[in-house]
Order: sequence, then structure tokens, then C-alpha cells
Amino acid sequence: MVAVNADVERQTASVDLLVDLGAADMAGVNALISARMQSPVAVIPALADHLINAGGKRLRPLLTVAAARLAGSTSDGCLKLAAAVEFIHTATLLHDDVIDSSQLRRGKVAAHLIWGAPSSVLVGDYLFARAFELMVEAGSLRALDILAKAAGVISEGEVLQLTRAHDLNLSKDIYLEIIRAKTAELFAAAAEAGAVSAGASEEQTRAMRTYGMNLGLAFQLSDDALDYGGTTEALGKNAGDDFREGKATLPLLLAIAATGAQEAAFWERTIGRREQDDADFTRARELIKMTGAGQATLDLAHDFAAEAKDALACMPASDWRRALEDLADFAVTRSA
Ligand code: IPE
Ligand code: IPE
Ligand code: MG
Ligand code: MG
Repeated sequence: MVAVNADVERQTASVDLLVDLGAADMAGVNALISARMQSPVAVIPALADHLINAGGKRLRPLLTVAAARLAGSTSDGCLKLAAAVEFIHTATLLHDDVIDSSQLRRGKVAAHLIWGAPSSVLVGDYLFARAFELMVEAGSLRALDILAKAAGVISEGEVLQLTRAHDLNLSKDIYLEIIRAKTAELFAAAAEAGAVSAGASEEQTRAMRTYGMNLGLAFQLSDDALDYGGTTEALGKNAGDDFREGKATLPLLLAIAATGAQEAAFWERTIGRREQDDADFTRARELIKMTGAGQATLDLAHDFAAEAKDALACMPASDWRRALEDLADFAVTRSA
């Protein structure tokens, strides 16, 4: 009985309502993105277009728009901030794929494999610069402050992760600190900046930040579970990347703790020394499933998603609020 209920709860939630409600605003955001990624230096629009027009879920700019609309905005004030948020995200993806040596992004060959790592890093920098222009044009110093700080925190998270990459004894607290910084901070800032652009009360602005932070934690936890439990086709990026890099994510850390001395040599070779072949990933995936480490990661994601939804209590009951509740469920149940 309990298992059946859990299965029902974990059916993939839909973001259709959010996408529908945000369609007109996102058309404006996408037009801004296309216009602002242009440059007379041909490699810049070519490389940016390769990634940006490959799709992407656009969750972070949707969050900015949704926060502004939920807080009562009827103007276009949030659109430039939303475009800036997606540029910041896109820039971090360009940098991240170089750092992680990832080969696939949004179902396409990673940009650094076509144009080289130097161009990828520099176009990432260009998109950051364009994001800052958009934020200045949006005219809210407070929103600029929120997003500028977030950009710094993301870098801190990525560098912290780099220094602890192959640590088999990484604590859950430090793991959570890493994902808070590298991922959840931008979700938090995207939602908070949207609320600020709408002139929301302090209470509502804080609530949107809390919502975004918990949503982002849930999102990255499920991402880390999907790296072992998902498929390359659905993800548009290679499953197993984290394992191949020896990245200490929660499913791996929990499986290492649960298998103890029995598998110590396997983990030390594959993660500690990163000596692997393809069969090793299959074995790691089995151990993560068998020990319940993947499920425990999703359970924690579920807890953060529930906290995200709780944070919406002080916002007006509306379709937008329902859409954000759905988004919290989607973050945990998604396969892509
Ligand atoms: C990828 O984010 C980076 C993570 C934080 C895991 P998304 O899954 O939102 O990527 P796109 O924008 O939809 O491609
Ligand atoms: C996500 O990093 C966070 C950033 C891009 C800053 P990951 O390395 O965990 O995400 P994927 O798997 O490459 O999308
Ligand atoms: Mg990566
Ligand atoms: Mg990474």
C-alpha cells in the first residue's frame, strides 16, 4: 500500500501549466537572448547559438518571470532580468563542460569539442558580460546585487567541488554546501530578483528566495541521482559523467558508506585513482541501486521540494502559485 502511494507520488510532474502561463513572457525573453548574443566576432554568435538554440528547459528565467507575476507585476520589468539569468546559466554550462570534460550537452556535441576549450571559456565570459549589461538596463540595483552575488557564489561552488572532487570521505554537509553554491544559489537569486522587480514585500521576497533555494537543492540532487539512474537520450548529456570524473556526489557517497570494506578496493580504484572501464560504471550503478543510495538521494530531494512548496504559503493562491508547486514536484520526478 505504502509502496503504491509512493509510486503515484513519484510519477513525473508536469511543468505544462508553468510553460503555458509563461509563454508570452518567454517569447520576449528568448527574443532578448537572441538579440544580445550577437557580435561581429563570428565565433561568438556561432558558438552561443549552438548551445542556446539546442533548447534547454529555461527553468531559471521562467522562475524569474513566475516570481514577478506571482508577486503581482503587470509590466515587462522582469524580462531583462530573466534573460540575464539564462545568460548566467548558459555561461556556467560552457565553463562547466570544459571543467568536467563533458562531451554532450542538450543532446548536441559540447561546444568545446567543436570550437576548443579557449573559445568556449571566452564565449562564456562574453555571455556573463552581456548578462551584466541586461541587469543594469533592468534598472534595479537590488536585483543587480542579488544576481552579481549569485554569479560569485556559483564560481565558489565549482571551485570548492574541484578541490574535493575525488574525496571518498566527503561529508554530506560539504556536498550540500557545494550544490547549494553551484546550483541552488542561481535558482534562489532568479526567484528573488523576480520578486524584487515586482516590488514585492520583504516577506514575499524572502519567501521566493527560500522557494528557489530549496527547489535548486532538489533539482541538483535529482540531477546527481539521474547521472546513475537516467538515460543519455532523455538527459541530453551522458549518463555516467559524474562516475567517470570520480565526482563525489551523494548517490556515490551513500553507496560507498553502505558497501563498506567489501567494495573498498573497487571505489579506491575507480574514484580514488580513476582507473575505470565501461563495466565499472555498470557495477557502480548496480551498487547504487542495490544499496538504495539512488532512492535515498531522491528522498532528500523530495524533502527539499516539500520545503520549497511550503515557502509559497505567504504568496497569493493563483495559477502561478500552482505552477510553482508543480515545478517543485517536477524537480524531483523528472527524467530530463
Ligand atoms: C543543468 O541545468 C545544470 C545543473 C544545474 C544540473 P538544466 O538541467 O536546467 O539545463 P538546461 O538549461 O535545461 O539544459
Ligand atoms: C551544474 O554542474 C552546475 C553548474 C553548471 C554551475 P554539474 O556539472 O553537476 O551539471 P551537469 O551534469 O554538467 O549538467
Ligand atoms: Mg558538468
Ligand atoms: Mg560540474
